[in-house]
Amino acid sequence: MAKRRTFAIISHPDAGKTTLTEKLLLFGGAIQMAGAVKARGDARRAHSDWMKVEQERGISVTASVMTFEYGAEIFNLLDTPGHADFSEDTYRTLTAVDSAVMVLDAAKGIEAQTLKLFEVCRLRDMPIITFVNKMDREARDPFDLLDEVEQTLALDVTPATWPIGMGRDFLGCYDLINDQLLFMERSKGQTAGDAGISCNGLDDPKIDELLPAEAAAKLREDVAMARELCPAFDLQAYREGTLTPVFFGSAINNFGVRELLGGIGQHAPSPRMQKAAERDVAPDEEKVSGFVFKIQANMDPKHRDRIAFFRISSGHFKRGLKMRHTRTDKTIALHNPVLFLAQDRELAEEAFAGDIIGIPNHGNLRIGDTLTEGETLHYTGVPSFAPEMLRKVRPEDPMKAKHLGRTLVQLGEEGAARVFKAHLGGEWIMGVLGALQFEVLADRIRTEFNIPVRFEATSLYTARWVEADDHGQLKAFTDREQADMAEDHDGAPVFLARNKWRLDTVQENYPNVRFLKTKEQT
Ligand code: G4P
Repeated sequence: MAKRRTFAIISHPDAGKTTLTEKLLLFGGAIQMAGAVKARGDARRAHSDWMKVEQERGISVTASVMTFEYGAEIFNLLDTPGHADFSEDTYRTLTAVDSAVMVLDAAKGIEAQTLKLFEVCRLRDMPIITFVNKMDREARDPFDLLDEVEQTLALDVTPATWPIGMGRDFLGCYDLINDQLLFMERSKGQTAGDAGISCNGLDDPKIDELLPAEAAAKLREDVAMARELCPAFDLQAYREGTLTPVFFGSAINNFGVRELLGGIGQHAPSPRMQKAAERDVAPDEEKVSGFVFKIQANMDPKHRDRIAFFRISSGHFKRGLKMRHTRTDKTIALHNPVLFLAQDRELAEEAFAGDIIGIPNHGNLRIGDTLTEGETLHYTGVPSFAPEMLRKVRPEDPMKAKHLGRTLVQLGEEGAARVFKAHLGGEWIMGVLGALQFEVLADRIRTEFNIPVRFEATSLYTARWVEADDHGQLKAFTDREQADMAEDHDGAPVFLARNKWRLDTVQENYPNVRFLKTKEQT
């Protein structure tokens, strides 16, 4: 358990997350050689049509889990969709990791999506390691980049490696933690590259032998200045999420990846304490417990299965374990859990706190659900977001209306979108955070459920879950505003606001009713 490092990569599209992920797996030995991956091509092709959408668009829609070993540690890398329209999935995935790696494009620094995702990490005081990628291209001055991270994110920064040159003149880095000179070989190959050359500090004459005089002088000058300007690495500050160590590299050239992995292995936290409504749960507790943070449908078209991604928060899990599903109070025997090893799924015989297992199911597990060995626990913090775009869903064939209703409830449970049924008229409305999600949904409803659908514009502004301590007051509100009320897939009441003014007015008129932007999954 103490060996586990469960983390995610946050970045803006194009910064190099996919490339870095591949390289991490390469160093971790999970994809030894291109040939080995190809040999299992048939299994890999067994992905759903939905993933075709993903390929066609060249964006990563689904999040998956990759497990690999490096040194003494076992890494669980939870991939997150990079596209802004799928950020909801990403936010939830971030509830299941213990730390994050923030990838920046050296020429661009902090970008919009980096900032958004960072804010989610900050809410959870998540420790973050920064990787400045693409140093082999024209990049911004490293001091300028460090300053931007510090200013924009209000985070202390400390360089873990220091770049020697940039762009065409990028030679490599000096590893400030292990005192090594690291040379970059420009190669896109599958080899991990050479390890660094140990030095006896920056005054080591070896540096003058190995680097051109100008580069050596600049390196010494830069590092002296960086040490003066930045605080030294402080494990506690990093673990509390107030300081980020910064690694420079070039993922495409396999450069800087080894040091980054070493950094995660050495400093990133092992599984952290998890919060449940009843109490905090420590990872080393004997009994197994955990929560579902993501549901993915139809990963394998041969079996119309759904996989619930389950983060083990405590205990030592063994296949066949019977677990209590707290929401329904039913017992579920986990006979066929899956572990995720790079592209392939393998049957999980055992797993530990920090690991993610996939639980095949037919819809009984939902996002936010807790499973335990008996104790009543409800893990908290897996949010559901109020949609920012709402559209009516209509089947092309009116005879399929009922079938469509069931399909939509299923998608709502899965967390793929918010689904609301209007109280008056019974129309179905779907809400998402980004327009692209509608296209993916229409495609899924057509290919997986065989119902061609249309999405029609609505004049709705937003949706808010409503809650009040006093049941009578809530009822008075919902009765009065019947025309604008709907319920979500769980039957929870939702207010559909036609415009901002409407929302502001009801909030003023009903001070005892809470209009919630997020709903914790129940
Ligand atoms: P993402 O997942 O964050 O969106 O980024 P991805 O890894 O797909 O990388 C985006 C582009 O940046 C790719 O180029 C990739 O090859 C390039 N890239 C990644 N790391 C580095 C690096 O260290 N140095 C340089 N110079 N480029 C890097 P592309 O042209 O979009 O695709 P491709 O045709 O190269 O595959």
